[in-house]
Amino acid sequence: MKNATALLTTLALLVSAALSSNAQARTWDAIKQSGTIKIATEGAFPPFNYFVGKKLTGFEVDLGTAIGKQLGLKVEWVTQPFDNLLIGLNQDRYDFVIASHGITPERLKAVDFANPHYCTGGAVVSKVGGPKTVADLKGKTVAVQVGTTYLDNVQKVAGVGKVSTFPKDTDAQAALMAGRVDVWVGDKFSALEVVKAQKPKLQLGDLLFQERIGMAVKKGNSSLLKELNSSLATELSNGVYAKLSGQYFGQDIRCK
Ligand code: ARG
Repeated sequence: MKNATALLTTLALLVSAALSSNAQARTWDAIKQSGTIKIATEGAFPPFNYFVGKKLTGFEVDLGTAIGKQLGLKVEWVTQPFDNLLIGLNQDRYDFVIASHGITPERLKAVDFANPHYCTGGAVVSKVGGPKTVADLKGKTVAVQVGTTYLDNVQKVAGVGKVSTFPKDTDAQAALMAGRVDVWVGDKFSALEVVKAQKPKLQLGDLLFQERIGMAVKKGNSSLLKELNSSLATELSNGVYAKLSGQYFGQDIRCK
């Protein structure tokens, strides 16, 4: 039963893809004609996409906005729980998603991904003195956000104890801080920030896996995908990406 949540998430995504195969996603021409592009994100995954008061911000929000503007469009943001984002994409609720999705074979069955906008990994984070390595996870309770690659990869660790899923990544972090779990597995760059903010209570351990992160469009929307890839390439070469990455991470996080 350990895989039940992950399985359900995958099933929901595949069913949403199958049911929506007749519905038409907006092509690049249709988007261009309307003058506005609708972008979805979660808004609870700092420093990538999050709220400061009522203002949606973060590296991916700024990058998505820059891409929209570069394409000559007005940008409209939609926020959804992480687990609903790709399902809503298949229901044509928005044009693309930028929410730190790892490009996985499973997700590629349901959506198409743009070229990666950053490369990262899933990191082990615990209180000082707690588990640091993959081997240390044996018998331990691990907190992860639901529907993520962290969940899939933690479940693969031989001998891992209980895996607790949380609707938001920040809830999984809070469970670690409260001592309700031994470990939080989350994004390497988020982890660097959290460990710094909680100094000296937390420690950053091993990377459990590595992943490439990309924007998702509805499966088959090749005209939009082409525009996103070309606009991303522009931002990567004209200094906009480098500036944003420096501002949020103090380093350039593009895939090397
Ligand atoms: N990179 C991980 C994944 O692909 C986590 C993404 C979580 N994103 C978010 N907006 N909470 O599943």
